Amino acid sequence: MDGKELLERKVSPAAQPRGIEPGERLFAPAIPSLSPWMLLPRRPRAAAPYPLDDPSVRFYYFARNGIYALARLWGLAGREILFPAYFHGVELEALLAAGVRPKFYPVGPRMQVDPAEVVARIGPDTRAIYLIHYVGFPGPVDELAEVCRERELLFVEDCALALLSCVGDRPLGTFGDAAIFCLYKTLPTPNGGAVVVRRGGPLGLPPGEQPPLASTLAPILGSLLEGAEVRGGAAGRLLRSSVRLAARSLTRPLRGHRVPTGTQHFDRAHVGLAMSHLSRVVIGSQDFARIVERRRRNYFHLLGKLRGIAPPIFGELPPGVCPLFYPLQVGDKASALARLRAKGVDAVDFWRVAHPAVPAGAFPEAESLRRTVLEIPCHQDLEPADVERISACVAKAVEDRR
Ligand SMILES: Cc1ncc(COP(=O)(O)O)c(C=O)c1O
Repeated sequence: MDGKELLERKVSPAAQPRGIEPGERLFAPAIPSLSPWMLLPRRPRAAAPYPLDDPSVRFYYFARNGIYALARLWGLAGREILFPAYFHGVELEALLAAGVRPKFYPVGPRMQVDPAEVVARIGPDTRAIYLIHYVGFPGPVDELAEVCRERELLFVEDCALALLSCVGDRPLGTFGDAAIFCLYKTLPTPNGGAVVVRRGGPLGLPPGEQPPLASTLAPILGSLLEGAEVRGGAAGRLLRSSVRLAARSLTRPLRGHRVPTGTQHFDRAHVGLAMSHLSRVVIGSQDFARIVERRRRNYFHLLGKLRGIAPPIFGELPPGVCPLFYPLQVGDKASALARLRAKGVDAVDFWRVAHPAVPAGAFPEAESLRRTVLEIPCHQDLEPADVERISACVAKAVEDRR
């Protein structure tokens, strides 16, 4: 890994590592970036929301570490778990590494899960049901919680894409026996995953050890520089490019110590890592109510502008939902992505690559989602003027395709 990579801003969540090409004017990064004041230790602004305030929460470097620890805590090795056919890949790899046997259930064209399809797959070996809340939008939690109660199964909610999201007033991750969260997709933390175990308690979950400082400092610097470019106009851009060059040589000694986030594959070498102290500091600086409010505002704004030309997978934004992105479908992802990035919109090529554990052709609707879904940023850093520009770029990218 070279210095350039070390200083590259955090890779976009839920996607393969990639970035805006040099020379492009980034104004809408995929994820929120850091401001220097977020690194100043302080008393938290207000009580943190669930799951950050939960007495039993355990923080890890990655959500995947928590998934692995949970599977081991519950003794799921050799047991069958019902798992959605549409998924990132690393969450499944964490389960596979723990010896779990997945049995896949279908996910519909609107990323919806039909509880009847899940129930139809329950067999004598089934021990648990795993549900992913896509892009912050709730899956059928009440129905599946009820099924799990009746059939004495464990229910895992994967809220990696749904931090701060609720069904009305009730947070996602409070319906199952355990919940998994990824923090760095929604917040500008350099790393961080969380697990809450609601059945059996977290006592058996290993605490994890602090990551090497290099793994935290490099993405922090990258995120600060990205924030400088996005918020600081031409001066910020110049700062970012010059500091990047200088830091390339400065960070050479850190090579090999970095543990990048946003990667596709589970790596046992990192399974014992906890969340960094600096991530805790960043969490303490966040205004969570504002984050939810701004994400919802931006999603509504995009919906208003794009509903007719680039409708999202989720055409409604129910109360309580904290959207991660505005997910839309395009015929030719590669060219739409290229057009958007050329305009400075860091859209995410969402889950394009299928995992080999799912037989090709077995779940055509999930395959179609992989081919077509692209995610447009709607995060808390974006102002109405940015969203206006983003929607114009999306409209153009979609129009040019016709
Ligand atoms: C649905 C889902 N679950 C779990 C994870 C794992 O998150 P982390 O990268 O923190 O391990 C991801 C990562 O993108 C994900 O998309």
